Amino acid sequence: MASQKIYILGIESSCDDTAAAVLCNGKILSNVVATQEVHKKYGGVVPELASRAHQQNIVPVIHEALDRAGITKKDLTAIAFTRGPGLMGSLLVGTSFAKSMALGLNIPLIDVNHMQAHILAHFIEEEGFDKPEFPFLALTISGGHTQVVKVSNYFEMEVIGQTLDDAVGEAFDKSAKILGLPYPGGPLVDKYAQQGNPKAFQFPKPKVGDLNFSFSGLKTSILYFIQKELKENPDFISQNLEDICASIQHTIINILMDKMKKAVKQTGIRQIAIGGGVSANSGIRKTLKEAEKKYGWKTFIPKFEYTTDNAAMIAIAGHYKYLTGDFADMEVTAKARIKM
Ligand code: KG4
Ligand code: ZN
Repeated sequence: MASQKIYILGIESSCDDTAAAVLCNGKILSNVVATQEVHKKYGGVVPELASRAHQQNIVPVIHEALDRAGITKKDLTAIAFTRGPGLMGSLLVGTSFAKSMALGLNIPLIDVNHMQAHILAHFIEEEGFDKPEFPFLALTISGGHTQVVKVSNYFEMEVIGQTLDDAVGEAFDKSAKILGLPYPGGPLVDKYAQQGNPKAFQFPKPKVGDLNFSFSGLKTSILYFIQKELKENPDFISQNLEDICASIQHTIINILMDKMKKAVKQTGIRQIAIGGGVSANSGIRKTLKEAEKKYGWKTFIPKFEYTTDNAAMIAIAGHYKYLTGDFADMEVTAKARIKM
């Protein structure tokens, strides 16, 4: 077993990225993502269009992943795919493809929970990156999810806090939309925020108990604030874009940090790992790095390409499931909603 090479093909199609990756013994050989541009003009992901684009992309993306890895499908040990959570029409494409490919090659099929995979991305073998030790706390922040998770082992995860309404990514994207920025606005808010004063404007922080979050009130207060300012000065947004973005980002980071401080206090766990598309945010990365000195935490920030939706994280989750022999059977179906 020690000298055996385990080649896992990971397939991700839960939302609007068609992705495939090949891992050998936990190391990346290839990581291919086809991002669907078609949704941009609609200001959000259109499920039917996402599913059609997955159908077009999946074969070339998998070919590319195998080519770049320098292997053929015959070398594969197992196939891992995202079972859920996500958009049903999108998940079905990856699920059906993975099932038929595993059946055709007569190799194990492994179903992966997308949210667990965002966390397990920290276990991809990567030079210069430490892996967290169990137990640790994970903060998963994306366009669809906001969760604080207590991770006791690879597949022993407990959600101890989550959003009651919008996800953090939605808070970024909806705020950006109010400012007239195109979808997805998160990266643009980040870009402008870097030039602005985070204390220029104040937005109220939501009062939500426990380790839960709420972001819908923030969006409303930003909307009212902008509407009021625009009445007095029609050029308010363009004249203050950097300061507005910096202030919004500062508020969101404060909300996240307050809850993480509470989670550390409650669990006694001081290792924090982040994942999901919003963990690409430069302000969040910087604040978490600073927290190492400030609060004595150890923080884990993944490589940029493993934060947004990707198949390398699906493959690494598949790798650990393979080691324990946890395979799916051919009856397995996609699931839009799925628990940790
Ligand atoms: O994980 P992801 O790629 O897809 C989902 O599963 O949702 O996350 C996408 C989200 C979008 O809301 C996008 O605006 C946000 O991540 N995002 C960012 C940044 N980069 C991506 N938000 C803030 N700052 C960024 N740099
Ligand atoms: Zn995701």
